[in-house]
Amino acid sequence: MNILVTGANGQLGNCLRKATSGSNDNYIFTDVAELDITDAGAVKKMVRDNDVNVIVNCAAYTNVEKAEDDRDFAELLNATAVRNLAEAAKANDGTLIHVSTDYVFGKEPYNVPCREDQKGTPTGVYGLTKLHGEQAIAESGVKALIFRTAWLYSEYGKNFVKTMLDLTSTKPELKVVFDQTGTPTYAQDLADALFHIIDNRLMDGNEGVYHYSDEGVCSWFDFTKMIAEIAGNTSCDILPCHSSEFPSKVIRPSYSVLDKTKFKETFGIKVPYWTDSLKICIKNLKENEA
Ligand SMILES: NC(=O)c1ccc[n+]([C@@H]2O[C@H](COP(=O)([O-])OP(=O)(O)OC[C@H]3O[C@@H](n4cnc5c(N)ncnc54)[C@H](OP(=O)(O)O)[C@@H]3O)[C@@H](O)[C@H]2O)c1
Repeated sequence: MNILVTGANGQLGNCLRKATSGSNDNYIFTDVAELDITDAGAVKKMVRDNDVNVIVNCAAYTNVEKAEDDRDFAELLNATAVRNLAEAAKANDGTLIHVSTDYVFGKEPYNVPCREDQKGTPTGVYGLTKLHGEQAIAESGVKALIFRTAWLYSEYGKNFVKTMLDLTSTKPELKVVFDQTGTPTYAQDLADALFHIIDNRLMDGNEGVYHYSDEGVCSWFDFTKMIAEIAGNTSCDILPCHSSEFPSKVIRPSYSVLDKTKFKETFGIKVPYWTDSLKICIKNLKENEA
């Protein structure tokens, strides 16, 4: 099978490179330099020339804060370009595996985990454009599986874990919000799950929307406490605070925990608990440093 991966230099893309390294399938890893997904003609040509059976879209506009001032570009990358991928996959009778976000939810004051069929109620431009991407896929009629995930971190690129490892080792005190609740997700866990699904050809007959995060629930404050504890950064006093203490253009969901029941029942994949995965990632980061 020929599998095209877009946005392959990002967090999830890099994790997918690792997950698929022993595969017998032909994975074609691309990032913007090799394939700009906003270029509909280039996408069509790439899919046709390589007889691509599956596209895994790891490309996205992921800067939640910046998206508020950059609406057109966020829409182009998170929605219009996703339509390009959907149409190209459909024209080749292929399947699109797309990644979306818990931030398609949040405007309603939820206090139970969000289900797949729940109406999207984004609080900001990023979530709205990602929701438009999901809608573009539905409208195209392509065979597709959409995986909404949350709070991704990894050994690659910039992410919350790396930032907090740095801050908790250098600052005497740190305030972190405790009024936003979700689930940290190790991008390698999601990549391994996607690889399992592709390798076992579990896409066929299972088109639809799924939720994938690691197991468990916490606030950004709890997440930071755990990062510092695992890393042994004991000299920083980490304090809980309200989101209102950090003036920001973007309103983030106060609760965006994802219900993963459908994912687990459909694919039979065991989902790791978030602190177990966090320990693995921090261990890898420390080993890479050494
Ligand atoms: N990060 C999170 O916390 C989070 C949470 C929930 C859901 N998600 C979703 O999970 C997916 C993966 O996220 P991630 O954190 O791995 O993203 P990421 O690290 O930001 O990677 C995205 C990649 O896409 C590339 N890209 C940008 N424009 C492109 C274009 N026109 N054509 C092709 N590639 C392009 C980026 O390149 P440049 O770096 O050069 O721009 C980058 O390498 C995304 O769909 C995201 O919305 C992420």
